[in-house]
Amino acid sequence: MTANSANMTKKETGTDIQKLVRKNILAMKPYSSARDEFKGEAEIFLDANENPYPSPYNRYPDPLQWKVKEKLSVLKKVNAEQIFLGNGSDEAIDLIIRAFCEPNRDSILITDPTYGMYAVCAELNAVPIIKVELTTDFDLDVDNLFSALTPNTKVIFLCSPNNPTGNLLSHDKIVKVLEGFPGLVVIDEAYIDFTSTESFTQQLPAYQNLVVLQTFSKAWGLAGLRLGMAFACKAIIDILNKIKYPYNVNIQTQEIALQALTEVTKKDNAVKEIIEQRTQLEQDLLQLPITEHVYPSDANFLLVKVKDAPGTYQYLMDKKIIVRDRSKVTLCKNCIRITVGTPQENENLIIALKNL
Ligand SMILES: Cc1ncc(COP(=O)(O)O)c(C=O)c1O
Repeated sequence: MTANSANMTKKETGTDIQKLVRKNILAMKPYSSARDEFKGEAEIFLDANENPYPSPYNRYPDPLQWKVKEKLSVLKKVNAEQIFLGNGSDEAIDLIIRAFCEPNRDSILITDPTYGMYAVCAELNAVPIIKVELTTDFDLDVDNLFSALTPNTKVIFLCSPNNPTGNLLSHDKIVKVLEGFPGLVVIDEAYIDFTSTESFTQQLPAYQNLVVLQTFSKAWGLAGLRLGMAFACKAIIDILNKIKYPYNVNIQTQEIALQALTEVTKKDNAVKEIIEQRTQLEQDLLQLPITEHVYPSDANFLLVKVKDAPGTYQYLMDKKIIVRDRSKVTLCKNCIRITVGTPQENENLIIALKNL
């Protein structure tokens, strides 16, 4: 087989998603409403036991959020049928585990340290967790990762830029995982807008086993809305849609997201400002005697090694400034994680720390 035909095989046959999905989920009948069955513009809705008297919210929302997906499809250059929307990306994390991992048998693999919800959702679903430590510069250890896999490992979660370390994982190493692992590879790009790197959404045509997560909670400034995105091949998206709660994204969230998608420059300007503030905050932190190290960040937060993380955390808490104590996390001894705030908030933080 030539190198070229090997690539073609990967692209064309891809992963057999049906074989990865839990059997009961493949077999089950999803909830269906009369509105799924009707095509065209209906005039009278007497099917869903709603209150008929007009208000902005007397009707159930579009269960598949097509208007939002159509706008996102243009922005993200991904087919609308390859987008799942959920109640935060946390919903997608939970559904992926539930759809693909048989409780007490199939496992997920996560890096250590990483975002906490992969483990929480796995534990909730009685799914064993394999943890593989990142290297000391917080990158993937691909050899260790592959040797930790078992035949029952169904999903690998990679977070890039990673929380709480703030760095992007190496692109080439992620590709190695995508190419060498027969299960799903979920790349959580919650912080991708704060980097100039291309999203892995652009690799979707090449990898059937790729799921990319993004969110409206960070750069878009809409954490309170609870809207997360998953991008994947249609077969995976269909499974997530099959098992989600029917009306998982409410009308107001859909409307506000649609509006936000017409104002992309607002998001871009916020990102620019946050990145400038990140640089300023880093410089200011480096001047402080308590600071041992500020790790490079591709996100909207900084991981900072200080002399005494629990003490610093408590001191700031007493001053009504909340940061995250990450000192008990693997590779993060004496580290606190600080979100980049407004110029005033960052200044207040630095003044407080100067007085420590
Ligand atoms: C890496 C990562 N993924 C996902 C999330 C959660 O996103 P959402 O608010 O869309 O549920 C967070 C939130 O902190 C995060 O850090």
